Amino acid sequence: MEVGVRATAQANPLREGLRLERTPQPCALAIFGATGDLTKRKLMPAVYALAVQGLLPNGFTVVGAGRTPLTDEEFRAAMREAVERFGRFPVSDTQWAAFAEGVRYAGVDLNDAEGLAPLRTVLEEVDLERGTMGNRVYYLSIPPSGIAMVARRLGEAGMTRPPGPEGFVRLIVEKPFGRDLTSARTLNEELHRDFDEHQIYRIDHYLGKETVQNLHVFRFANGIFEPVWNRQYIDHVQITVAESIGVEGRGGYYEESGALRDIVQNHIMQLVALIGMEAPADFQPETVRDEKVKLLRAIRPIHPDDALEMTVRGQYGSGWAEGDQVPGYREEPGVSPTSLRETFVAIKLDIDNWRWAGTPFYLRTGKRMPRRATEVAIQFRRVPHSPFGGQAATPSGTPAAGSIDPNLLVVRIQPDEGITLRFNAKVPGQAMRIRTVNMDFLYGSSFLTQSPEAYERLLLDCMLGDATLFAREDEVEEAWRLCTAILDGWRAHPPQVDEFPNHEAGTWGPQAAHDLLARDGRAWRRP
Ligand code: BG6
Repeated sequence: MEVGVRATAQANPLREGLRLERTPQPCALAIFGATGDLTKRKLMPAVYALAVQGLLPNGFTVVGAGRTPLTDEEFRAAMREAVERFGRFPVSDTQWAAFAEGVRYAGVDLNDAEGLAPLRTVLEEVDLERGTMGNRVYYLSIPPSGIAMVARRLGEAGMTRPPGPEGFVRLIVEKPFGRDLTSARTLNEELHRDFDEHQIYRIDHYLGKETVQNLHVFRFANGIFEPVWNRQYIDHVQITVAESIGVEGRGGYYEESGALRDIVQNHIMQLVALIGMEAPADFQPETVRDEKVKLLRAIRPIHPDDALEMTVRGQYGSGWAEGDQVPGYREEPGVSPTSLRETFVAIKLDIDNWRWAGTPFYLRTGKRMPRRATEVAIQFRRVPHSPFGGQAATPSGTPAAGSIDPNLLVVRIQPDEGITLRFNAKVPGQAMRIRTVNMDFLYGSSFLTQSPEAYERLLLDCMLGDATLFAREDEVEEAWRLCTAILDGWRAHPPQVDEFPNHEAGTWGPQAAHDLLARDGRAWRRP
């Protein structure tokens, strides 16, 4: 029985002309960390959604791998509950029954040299029974400390080599990829012992979001934006990844990670690369990734001594978030009451190339912000001269009183996915009054279709062998180069215990974050 329980496949206009739907070769997806949160919330619902849309190959099988001993039936029951709770398609008994035939479980023990044997046995059974032909995707949804070990064990068990010239074995590695530049390099070396680079898919789920993919289309499938997409016309860029949630029971993880490692090193740096990169010659994985890496290399390194000047770290205290009274970070479970971990970061970046010299990128992310909003704001320069009496730019380029507002382009990654262009218009009436108005594109109303979840697209791309939306080793290392220097600077100048918390939950970060822009005569946009 096939897993692909077809519902009406939804057309996705964003993909038209870019990639025709292709079906991967039959394969098995083995998920390490199968009883974990990500598998329940994201991976299994994504696999199920792919199945329902008929996008999976015949015989596709997902094999959960974990330490907990479970029968296939127990694992299937847990996965059904997860898909019902977190999936975007309703689950019917018939559909589930067909899907569940392609769901298996294998108990594994990484401390034992032979600990992957049960998984190998299940995968071999699946090859015979369901025709997966030795093609594998291993998904490592496990804590960073276990990643190298799993790769090693797979290598030792002879499970990393493709079954033949047409077949494949691929490895998907979840973030965080290392803790800093040195550990990321070490991890790359460790993985390369058993896997070639082309087999490794470093996942950053932001790259699977429709709105993030659309940044390529917006920039490079339109003729009118590219000529103004540079220092001559753009005053500065703001990238905001704001979350209204706190650490959601992940206090232990967050104490280790913090906002810089959790969001900036991966999601935000990817957005910087996509906004800043040059046009790739084609949409092949290496061409696109080469351009992204070039941009990341052009970011001016922040010397650890300058870290406090170029960045702001914050931590939320108690307050109100979306109408609820919420505890401060230090009161969250698993968090030290004197924690110095940052839950908010703001950074000023300079990019040293012809396109961006003198046009800073301001980045910020935080938990417990007033609302959930991820957006990129492109702030254009003011008109050089205003014939309407109001002033234009001052010689230094800073705003002048009574000046005409500059154009602004806002790409809303989520929620309210869309793009807004702000420009000036005459207010109807006898006087020459000028006011800004917005031109809006909204995904929801333009395409009348639900966007797929990022993990659906990324799992499918990996099975298809398309690495365009995954991070290459040099990309990850370049992002770490910047973040590690900041971490070094912060370590050399740790905050005092009473410096944190430095903003209330439900506010846009500490005052210092506003000062960072005010110093340059600018202000954060309110999303
Ligand atoms: C994850 C982070 O990578 O991204 C989380 O670890 C964060 O802390 C999440 O909440 C945000 O993802 P999204 O898709 O909700 O913006």
